Amino acid sequence: RKRGFIFDLDGVIVDTAKYHFLAWKKLANGIGIDFTEHQNEQLKGVSRIESLKKILKWGKVTLSEADFNKLMAEKNTNYLSYIATMDESEILPGVIKALQYLIDKKQPIALGSASKNSVEILNKVNLLNRFDAIIDGNAVTKAKPDPEVFLKAAQSIHFSPENCIVFEDSVAGIQAANRANMISIGIGEASILNEADVVFKDFTEISTDFLEKLLSVTKS
Ligand code: G6P
Ligand code: MG
Repeated sequence: RKRGFIFDLDGVIVDTAKYHFLAWKKLANGIGIDFTEHQNEQLKGVSRIESLKKILKWGKVTLSEADFNKLMAEKNTNYLSYIATMDESEILPGVIKALQYLIDKKQPIALGSASKNSVEILNKVNLLNRFDAIIDGNAVTKAKPDPEVFLKAAQSIHFSPENCIVFEDSVAGIQAANRANMISIGIGEASILNEADVVFKDFTEISTDFLEKLLSVTKS
């Protein structure tokens, strides 16, 4: 029995939100806008361009296209300086065990992420070779909650959507998985991810028995 397993990256495999926070805060403060952890929460799963649009809206700031693009580039340069320090120790608890279980069972695994830095990050934490396909921000035109990223990920591992299982930490990502007609597994707070088919706090709560059961489920 086989299913297609699709993993989001940020917040599921690694906690990069803290680095996004530092980079967005620096950018926002630099143009006189406050930026809080609470606002950072709302940028989870949101593409870089949409994130900057939101920050400008919160701060009631309008920019020329040239300045907008300059800030986008600066944000990423700053973010990449944090990424540069990452290693295996930043892989979230239980993730390697789950990935290894699926690999041992010969299940295909794809990445479905909004990030344009996904290969860089997976390389840093030494997980790139565990994925059969990478669909990320460079491969899609529509951001989550649009299902494009997950539909492309399913195609890339040759599975129909209802036989795919998505692990996601963001509300937009859970909505994208549901719209794609895939099983959505929330990683985080059940009260926030209430649209998911099932929610776990983190991968340490996901047993191999549960993963085994997933091999025979189909989204209905
Ligand atoms: C993920 C993160 C978002 C981030 C987006 C784009 O979805 O949760 O916070 O904005 O990826 O990431 P990037 O690395 O391309 O800036
Ligand atoms: Mg995420």
